[in-house]
Amino acid sequence: MQSSRIAGIGHYVPKNVYTNADLSRFMDTNDEWIQERTGIRERRFADRLEETTTTMGVEAAKIAIGRAGITAQDVDFIIFATLSPDYYFPGCGVLLQREMKMKEVGALDVRNQCSGFLYALSIADQFIKTGMYKNILVVGSEKHSFAMDFETRSRNVSVIFGDGAGAVVLQPAQKEGQGILSTHLHSDGADAEILAMFYPGSHANKWMPEKPGYPDQELGGLFLTTEQLQSGSALPYMDGPAVFKKAVVKFPEVIREALQANQLSAQDIDLLVPHQANLRISQYVQQLLDLPDEKVFNNIQKYGNTTAASVPIALSEAWEAGKIKDGDLICLAAFGSGFTWASALIRW
Ligand code: UT7
Repeated sequence: MQSSRIAGIGHYVPKNVYTNADLSRFMDTNDEWIQERTGIRERRFADRLEETTTTMGVEAAKIAIGRAGITAQDVDFIIFATLSPDYYFPGCGVLLQREMKMKEVGALDVRNQCSGFLYALSIADQFIKTGMYKNILVVGSEKHSFAMDFETRSRNVSVIFGDGAGAVVLQPAQKEGQGILSTHLHSDGADAEILAMFYPGSHANKWMPEKPGYPDQELGGLFLTTEQLQSGSALPYMDGPAVFKKAVVKFPEVIREALQANQLSAQDIDLLVPHQANLRISQYVQQLLDLPDEKVFNNIQKYGNTTAASVPIALSEAWEAGKIKDGDLICLAAFGSGFTWASALIRW
């Protein structure tokens, strides 16, 4: 079967840099705590009015398309991964199609949070394998800053996340053994509510456990009153330590699954590009797999956690820095809300 390869890659991050010290002007936090617990020094926040998840995705897509040596008119399918879409519906895929004046091709939005890009990549890979499409644009983009609360009550969430976008163009591989070797996708909804944003939503409280810290149990449906908004009911919720504990198990597990499926070992990896959730998680995984520093790429220090955008931004930066050469074995892995997690092995 025809395998697929990344023919072009690009990323875009907003100009506005917010350091840890900047955040401590709004809430009770400090540079030492943030760096020690997460590795993050600064992050980018999109322009509140001028930039959206789609516009950032477009900027990244333009670079990826140019580097693939095609034009926007050649793209025959769009997959857009995000948890922070411009609209509740329709998705960002069609907005990007409109903005880039593409043909009337299919556009699919993927809502798998931190593993969204890897899910999107896996879908694109299957379409290339079957011969259905030849130039698939895969985008991961997030504008977290629009929904974040910069008060102390939300400090465990709002110091972590940042904005940005990454994109790749997937095409049929040119030679045998090149391109995506395999992708591995998983989910476990048992703990869906420990990293979630409940509104807007149609749950009418059906799924929400009665725990302190969860939004008002009386609420439900799409419509929110001003009081409900002010109470923090429509903000992202995260039980950080619980997510951390699961992540450090699932990251190595899904990487080993990918290696095993291809009869390879961790020592064969030339570069691991993990989802940038927390530098401590990446370092733990690195240690477990016994990988030297030069074989793991991290940029969370500069951008924070950009969820669906983090893997393509990191991959793009690593490629631009010359850390990825033809023939290298690249491992991508992600874990996040859902829980969902995934990996991909690529022979560049
Ligand atoms: O992208 C995938 C999904 N997300 C993740 O993978 C995130 C995984 N989890 C984490 O990265 C970490 O759990 C966090 C970075 C979110 C938190 O680090 P932690 O070491 O697990 O801290 P904690 O939540 O256990 O909080 C420890 C203390 C608490 O104070 P007390 O109760 O010990 O007095 C918090 O209130 O740190 C406090 N704290 C803060 N202090 C200063 C929480 N956030 C902050 C903050 N600044 N921003």
